Amino acid sequence: MLATMLRSSLAGLCLQACLASAALAEIPTKLGDDQLPMGAAKRTPGPFDQLLFKVGSEYKRWGRVDDEMRWAPWLCRKPEPGKLNFSDRPAGDAHGQKLYSLFARQRDEFFQLTKDKKVNVGQTIVKQSWLPEEITDSQEIPPKFNANFEKIIVSKDPRKQEGGIPQIVNETDHFYPFAWKGDKVYKAGNQTDLFVMTKLDPKTPDTDEGWVYGVLSPDGKTVSAAGKIESCVRCHSTSQGDRLFGYMHLFEKQP
Ligand code: HEC
Repeated sequence: MLATMLRSSLAGLCLQACLASAALAEIPTKLGDDQLPMGAAKRTPGPFDQLLFKVGSEYKRWGRVDDEMRWAPWLCRKPEPGKLNFSDRPAGDAHGQKLYSLFARQRDEFFQLTKDKKVNVGQTIVKQSWLPEEITDSQEIPPKFNANFEKIIVSKDPRKQEGGIPQIVNETDHFYPFAWKGDKVYKAGNQTDLFVMTKLDPKTPDTDEGWVYGVLSPDGKTVSAAGKIESCVRCHSTSQGDRLFGYMHLFEKQP
């Protein structure tokens, strides 16, 4: 239902996507040596690190895929902010029992994933993740279905303050850091890794048919793993959606 509503908000997004890609041109594509985070020195830099640093520096501008306040403010009901999801992966694996929120470079394409359709080259998904922290104080428990608007975290696009690109599209981020699981409610605790998947030409060597996987620090400035990471490939290659599982598990992991 939510996915259908989000899909119906796709009209006009082409224009937004074009504007967004025009805006990306001004973002630096490399970190200079002096800007490399301290931890990065411990790992030998690989061929995909610069690509992943670029993703880490720009992904917030793409918007959370489910932020209706950003993408569909014209809905005939109150649009909802981007929300936390609970990964149902078992504890111990990459996403195990973490809370997460997704960003996509090509949001409309992400919602149009279908079985056996190849994803566009250039598509990039970033999965922010947090450790769950249960809320037990009854005074603090947010409503289960509709967001409490006073608790939404609103962040403006920094370019507005810099006086840069004119803001034609709504690039404010709206995030509701709570998730329910059964009758328990959790908030985003400590932020953990960013999980990234970006698609290059499928013929690119050392990729999973074009897919590059990456694990970055929460600030996006340290790459701890990159490329055809075996553990990621083992799981993501079971999806029928060209390696992606999609919003709200469009494709289930095959046994
Ligand atoms: C054991 C299975 C498994 C492993 C290992 C795994 N993933 Fe995932 N991944 C999933 C599932 C299932 C989802 C759907 C969301 C969820 O439940 O967490 C997902 C979602 C994602 C997404 C959001 C895009 C999508 O598929 O819809 C990204 C990005 C991602 N994973 C990156 C990674 C990276 C990078 C690694 C390796 C470090 C990795 N994953 C390892 C199962 C796995």
